[in-house]
Amino acid sequence: MNQVLATTELNTVFEECLILKQELIDGLCAKEKYINPKFFYDEVGSQLFEQIMQLPEYYPSRIEMSLLEKYKHEIAEVLGENIVLIEPGAGNCEKVQYILQTLKPKCYMPIDISADFLFDCARKLQNKYPFINIHAVADDMKAKVEIPSAFKNNEKIVFYPGSTIGNYNPNEALAFLKHVKDLVGKGGGLLVGVDLQKEKEVLDAAYNDKHGITALFNLNVLNHANKLLGSDIDIDLFEHVAFYNEEQCRIEMHLESKAEHKYNIDNVSQLCFSEFERIHTEYSYKYTIESFSELAEQAGLKLEKYWIDDDKLFSVQYYKVS
Ligand code: AVI
Repeated sequence: MNQVLATTELNTVFEECLILKQELIDGLCAKEKYINPKFFYDEVGSQLFEQIMQLPEYYPSRIEMSLLEKYKHEIAEVLGENIVLIEPGAGNCEKVQYILQTLKPKCYMPIDISADFLFDCARKLQNKYPFINIHAVADDMKAKVEIPSAFKNNEKIVFYPGSTIGNYNPNEALAFLKHVKDLVGKGGGLLVGVDLQKEKEVLDAAYNDKHGITALFNLNVLNHANKLLGSDIDIDLFEHVAFYNEEQCRIEMHLESKAEHKYNIDNVSQLCFSEFERIHTEYSYKYTIESFSELAEQAGLKLEKYWIDDDKLFSVQYYKVS
């Protein structure tokens, strides 16, 4: 049986905390306040996101999984044999398992920042798929990944499901796609989950579920900020706001202040909120097959094939380095 290989390239916990703290302060003290969506995912936030994925209104995860399940044989055929499959931000490695058994890559490389959680998932995967070399990398998803020398000559394909690409603005998405192209090189590819443009009502409902789980997920980012900053921002003074901006083709999530309030951070920075002031927390861009493939083309990636559900809600797209 193969042995899990694990690599860590992380800063020390202390260094990482200082960087995150400064990033939060910069965002909260900006003229138009923002918090990077990566701050959603503390332990509570990750659990809330798991709940979001089960919501009837939140269609992306459900449909993506059904597409991977339904088309796994076609996907395996198009991606080819003996590949190195690289998954940035792999989390619990759940989605890849829809295709792993059929695809049988030579090597699977999940990358994630949460080292302990990642290595634990990788060990479980290795037991389940003893015929695949699992090489887990604890690092930032945009890191330059070192492919194990034994697989340097195999074709490399990045797997990026979950419509996470939609959380980047188009410039960031382009930069990420260029990074993917450089990582996989000539002959390589990208299998990506992309959420599609659709009626505003469907999108608004997906980010304003009637059980209020998305609202809790959004508000929890302030709990996480409080923990990192040692602050006591009053969460009850904020409201979840999410809507589809049709002009920009994106969901916007904000936290809107219900009153005026002030805080001191480290006795240095003063944080003031006025009534109705918003903190921007997330964009979730929605594409058409054409608009996403045009973006990918700018990065040197050419659309080979895509799979889409009958209601045209979500797509899984496969690109090759052109
Ligand atoms: C992780 N990401 C793709 C989700 C999305 O749909 O943009 C995050 C999310 N935000 C609110 N609900 C889900």
